[in-house]
Amino acid sequence: MSLESLREVALDWPFPRTEEGTLPPVLDELRRKPPTAVRIPEGATSSRLAWLVTRYEDVRTALAHPLLSADETRPGAPVRIQLPPGERPSSYLRMDDPEHGRLRGLIQKEFTARRVRGLEDDISALTERLLDEFAALPQPADLHDAFSRKLPTLVIGRLLGVPEADYAFFIETTRVVISQEDPAVAYGAYLDISTYLRELAEAKLEEPKDDLISRLVTYVASGEITLSELVGIALLVLVAGHETTTNQIALNILSLLDDDELRERVAADDGALVPEFVEESLRFWSISQDAIVRQAIEDVEIGGVLFEAGDPVVISIPAGNHDERMYGCPHKLDIDRDSSGHLQWGYGPHFCQGKPLAQLEMHLAMRALLRRFPDMKLAAEPQTLFRKNTVFHGLTHLPVTW
Ligand code: HEM
Repeated sequence: MSLESLREVALDWPFPRTEEGTLPPVLDELRRKPPTAVRIPEGATSSRLAWLVTRYEDVRTALAHPLLSADETRPGAPVRIQLPPGERPSSYLRMDDPEHGRLRGLIQKEFTARRVRGLEDDISALTERLLDEFAALPQPADLHDAFSRKLPTLVIGRLLGVPEADYAFFIETTRVVISQEDPAVAYGAYLDISTYLRELAEAKLEEPKDDLISRLVTYVASGEITLSELVGIALLVLVAGHETTTNQIALNILSLLDDDELRERVAADDGALVPEFVEESLRFWSISQDAIVRQAIEDVEIGGVLFEAGDPVVISIPAGNHDERMYGCPHKLDIDRDSSGHLQWGYGPHFCQGKPLAQLEMHLAMRALLRRFPDMKLAAEPQTLFRKNTVFHGLTHLPVTW
C-alpha cells in the first residue's frame, strides 16, 4: 500500500484541538488503526502526503528510528515550521548524525544537572521579581503577559547573553516565527532574529562575556564551527527553550486555576507534588502538537505499515501521550498516575536538551505562584484563552484576580 494509493482518503493535517484546548478527537480513532495517510501543508498554497504515526509504541519507535531522517535538506523532506527558502542558518534539530551529534555535543555542558542547579538562585530571584511586578498591577491582570511569557525569555536571554533591553523584540519575534499564521511574515521574523543573533555573536567575538554565545564564539575562532552554525544553535535554543516553556507554564497555571481540589493538593507541603503535577501536565497538554516530522531514508516498517524510501512521516507526540494502552483514562489530568515515560520531552537522538532547565523553571514558578497567590482566580472562560494555528499549543492570555 503506497502513500499515493491513499490520496483520496487522506485527512488534512494538522487537526484542530477542541474548544477546551484538548486533543483533536480524531486521534482516538486513528490510534485504533495502523499509521494512516494525511495531507500536510507545504508553503502557503500546496500540500503533500505523509504517514501519521499515533500509537505510543509506534511514536517511540519512530522518534528513535535510524531510518527516519530529521534532515530538512534531503530532497522531499517535510517541513512544519515554514522557513525562508535558500541560504539560512539551519539548526541541528533538523539534522542527522554525525552532523547533529557534533553540534549538539558543543552545548551539552550547558544543560547538565549540575550546571542547571547553579542557575537556581538566579531563576528564583527573577521569578520573585516578576511576581512583585505582577502583584502591583490593577486587577484583573494578564498573568501570561506579566509572568509566563517573561520568565522563560529572561532565563534564555541570560543563558545566551542577550542584553535585557532587547527582550521585547525577542518575545515578539519568536512568537511570530512559531505562529505560522502567515508564512511570509514568519520568514521575515526568522530573518530578523537571525541577523540580530549574528550581530550579537560578532560583538562577542570582539568582547566575550560569561554566556553561551560567548562560549560558542570560541569554537568559531578555532574554526570548529562557522558563524552560521553558531547562529543556528543560538536560534534553536531560543525557539525550543522559549515558546515551549512559556506555554507549558501558562497551561500548568490554567489547570490549577480550573480545578480547586487539584490545586489544593499541589499546593500542600510547600508544593511537594509540583514535580509530579508538572510531568502529568506535560503529558496531558502535549504542547509539541504538530512539530515532529521526519522522512524515511529506506523502506521501513512501523506499526505494521511499510513506509517507502522518501515518504514523509508525521510523529504525533500528543497521540502517543494519550494512548490508553499506556495511560488509563488518558484524557484526565491525574497526578496520582505514573506519567513517567511520557513523550513530551521527545525520545531518541533529538531528546530535549533543555529538560533539566525547563523542569527547574517550571518547579520554581509553580511553587512561588502557589505560595504567593493562594486565592488566585481565573477571570475568563478557559475556552476563550487558547491559541489557534500554532505549532506549540498554548494560551493567548490568562486574565486572573487574586
Ligand atoms: C516545557 C518545555 C519544553 C518542552 C515540552 C520541550 C520539548 C522538546 C521536544 C519534544 C524535543 C524533540 C524534538 C524532535 O524530536 O524533533 C525537544 C528538543 C530540543 N529542546 Fe526542548 N522542550 C522544552 C524546553 C526546552 C528548553 C528550556 C530548552 C533550552 C534552553 C530546550 C532545548 C531543546 C533543544 C536544543 C532541542 C533539540 C535537541 C536535538 O535536536 O538534539 N527545550 N524539546
